Amino acid sequence: MNGFIYDIPVKVYFGRDQLGHLGEELRKYGSRVLMTYGGGSIKRIGLYDKVVAEINKAGLQLFELGGIEPNPRIDSVRKGAQMCKENRIDVLLAVGGGSTIDATKFIAAGACVDFDPWDFIDLKKRAPIEKALPIVDILTLSATGSEMDSGGVISNPETGDKIGRLSSKLLPKVSFLDPTNTYSVSPYQTACGAADMFSHIIEVYFNMEQDLYMLDCFMEGMMKTIIRFAPIAMREPDNYEARANLMWTSSWAINGFIDGGRQLAWSCHPMEHELSAIYDITHGLGLAILTPRWLEYCLDETTVSKYVQFGVNVFGINATLPPMEIAHKAIECMSHFLFDTLGLKSTLTEVGIDESHFEHMARKAVGGGTLHGFKPLQQQDVVNIYKMCE
Ligand code: NZQ
Ligand code: ZN
Repeated sequence: MNGFIYDIPVKVYFGRDQLGHLGEELRKYGSRVLMTYGGGSIKRIGLYDKVVAEINKAGLQLFELGGIEPNPRIDSVRKGAQMCKENRIDVLLAVGGGSTIDATKFIAAGACVDFDPWDFIDLKKRAPIEKALPIVDILTLSATGSEMDSGGVISNPETGDKIGRLSSKLLPKVSFLDPTNTYSVSPYQTACGAADMFSHIIEVYFNMEQDLYMLDCFMEGMMKTIIRFAPIAMREPDNYEARANLMWTSSWAINGFIDGGRQLAWSCHPMEHELSAIYDITHGLGLAILTPRWLEYCLDETTVSKYVQFGVNVFGINATLPPMEIAHKAIECMSHFLFDTLGLKSTLTEVGIDESHFEHMARKAVGGGTLHGFKPLQQQDVVNIYKMCE
């Protein structure tokens, strides 16, 4: 195990009926609160009214920014940062899924500087994130893990970019994780969320560098949890056990615990972010289409042992079969889960993506050089993987 620093100072209130703590938590950071949210789902499920009531009860002053888009855009971040400055906001309250929380992270940082917040994201500028307003969030969709990680991903339609950035300054101070707030998530978004959190685990699990048995077991347990509970949550949206298991898995899949000092870059995420940058597709759907093809592409005699471990421990494939056969069966099981059980579309063609931008997206995905992930990938490799997805 390489050396690493483990530091996730996010306070979590998990479960039903925790919202009574919202006022006291916000008050620790000040009295002027900017609540951010998306296209209106929080109003439809009655959460908006509950939050406003708690804020009023605590005697706090409420400001609002709604309309944050899925695949959140830099313009929403600019608008939010401006509102924070004009209204001397003390603390941000993000109520929603990963898009709302991600945008709020960069609003929090943008509020503390006098330059364009895109400068934090732009790969050529990468302005340092030295300060950010405190963030509290109420999660409504289990997927990205933004509620417990230091990252955010922002799109800029003008430049055609969708880029992520990490900074410990962006970690939420407090996250309210109430599984009942996800009862209204549609079967499709539930499936995309499951594919996303599965991918967050796979990006770390598929690694030949070192053997971290304890973390591998933990990741296999989380993958089995997703396989078990995502279909239940799709069939029975208000099944608390299913929603709770998915919610806590989404947070732990990406909060840094499973990394254990591993340094390798992620592979499917950079490839997917290019798809959602140009075509505005749902992140988890893009990952679902890419992941089995990427696994197929990276399979050879040098990597097969990882696939065997995955196939046997996660999908229960017979360990006495020849390794290559287990590996192929593991990829089949993965595809079956994503495309048959979760019912996600399985090709780029089906979601309206053709080869016209493959070269361009591949170049950006590898950052103009090599993507040093599970298997090093160059531009042509990524083009090949996109083609396998057609
Ligand atoms: O906008 P509203 O009306 O709230 O509707 C949303 C949106 O249409 C809806 N929704 C959310 N909660 C709901 C609900 N509908 C009914 N009931 C509820 N309780 O679901 C739709 C999708 O929401 P969104 O926030 O976009 O989804 P998600 O949480 O999957 O976030 C995706 C974004 O996060 C980025 C993705 O790239 C994408 O931009 N990611 C962020 C990461 C991070 N911060 O670490 C890592 C991920 O890998 C990912 O890249
Ligand atoms: Zn993701």
